[in-house]
Amino acid sequence: MDKNNKQMLLGLGFTGAYGANAKAWKSEGVTGHIYPDIEADIRYAQLAEKGKFQFLFIGDFPGAIPNDNSEVPSMTLEPIITATAILQRTKNIGIAATVHTQWNVPYTVARQFKGIDLMSGGRIAWNAVTGSSPKVAQLFGVNLMDRQSRYESHYEFVEAVQQFWATWGEDALKADRETGVFADYRQVKPVYISGKYTQANGALPIPPSSQGQPVIFHSGGSPASIAFAGRYANAMIGEVWTIEQGIETRKALRQAAIDAGRNPDEIKFIAGLMPVIADSKREAIDRHATFMDEKVVQQRVYHIGMVLGLRLTPADLDRPIAPELLNSVEIDSYSDPRIENVLKVAHEGWTLRDIIYHSVIDYHPATLGDAKETADHLTTWFEAGAADGFWILPDAYETDLHRFVNEVVPILQERGIFHKEYEGETLRKNLDVPYQYGVDERLR
Ligand SMILES: Cc1cc2nc3c(=O)[nH]c(=O)nc-3n(C[C@H](O)[C@H](O)[C@H](O)COP(=O)(O)O)c2cc1C
Repeated sequence: MDKNNKQMLLGLGFTGAYGANAKAWKSEGVTGHIYPDIEADIRYAQLAEKGKFQFLFIGDFPGAIPNDNSEVPSMTLEPIITATAILQRTKNIGIAATVHTQWNVPYTVARQFKGIDLMSGGRIAWNAVTGSSPKVAQLFGVNLMDRQSRYESHYEFVEAVQQFWATWGEDALKADRETGVFADYRQVKPVYISGKYTQANGALPIPPSSQGQPVIFHSGGSPASIAFAGRYANAMIGEVWTIEQGIETRKALRQAAIDAGRNPDEIKFIAGLMPVIADSKREAIDRHATFMDEKVVQQRVYHIGMVLGLRLTPADLDRPIAPELLNSVEIDSYSDPRIENVLKVAHEGWTLRDIIYHSVIDYHPATLGDAKETADHLTTWFEAGAADGFWILPDAYETDLHRFVNEVVPILQERGIFHKEYEGETLRKNLDVPYQYGVDERLR
């Protein structure tokens, strides 16, 4: 694709019932408080589709219970069930659903995902992660493996799933009334998998979908994660706070694809953004602040102090950090990657409280302000090569997702860096990644 008309990808982080913020159930516009409410999930997915988002990303940390009784548990309904319900009521948007490999079996995963792929006309992706939480492992009655074994078994698992996906030959289905042949079963070839961690024999009798087989996503960022994604995935959902970090991660991912024998354009790096969109920065800050109680603000005072290497206490909350203190801050290779964002906002002269409300030490970079501010962030990162696309984590769908779709998307389209229409009917087509059936033969 010509660099000048390269388009960014947009995904919606579907982490919480009402938005990315665990307190979003209190947001304006939320009514009824039915929880969990698949109808609401469908409505927000349809809104993302109206905004031409290429995909929803459904992460999974099963069993997580908040410590704070004012918060909603995230990712409550099982991702495959959620994805199936949403895909029945949408036409173009794809879904990346997370399923762990450590406590599942390849045949079940292969069967569920290929079934949804067929049912949705080729719009599902499997976000294949190992699972790295000992608490989650306990839910399934297993012990967490060490990282090396986790990834060794992950490779075997994903290859086994892809082998199952290709057991039904691409031309096996005949349904020929004249000859009376329904299927050429000689083209249905069982697999015999005998790995260190995975054993399975047999076939999965499901024909190809219009994108061949589900897309593989991965979420993470460690070297092991990047090596896995470079080998098997078409998109990696990441967590980076600066443009430089984005450029480095994207480069490492592309190199991992090359090392595996693939074309690096087939793997997309997706960075996160938490946008709060209002008519002015003040209004955005004030709205975000309604989701943060005083206890959290006070904890973050110490956290920001640690990031900057300064002694800050709640007594400092309602004044700016003195310029001479800011000028004494040193950045080195051990600094928290969020330090630059903290310093940038602090140098603008905001009080410590407002610095905290800027979300400077959150999971992802945040933009608080009008639609142009968010569009500028996305444009700058994209044009710098820090990401191929973004997963958007709006505080509350009722406010920020509506404004993102109605105000940010048109700016990006106007700038020629985001599509106006879906390129095709399958997720592969919309991600601009090739058709695939079975394990990629180029893998070294
Ligand atoms: C942005 C991002 C999203 C992630 N989403 C999930 C998820 O939904 N479920 C999960 O179990 N792990 C998730 N992870 C964890 C990673 O897959 C990975 O296990 C973790 O970063 C630890 O790295 P390691 O596996 O190399 O030890 C996510 C990580 C990142 C950075």
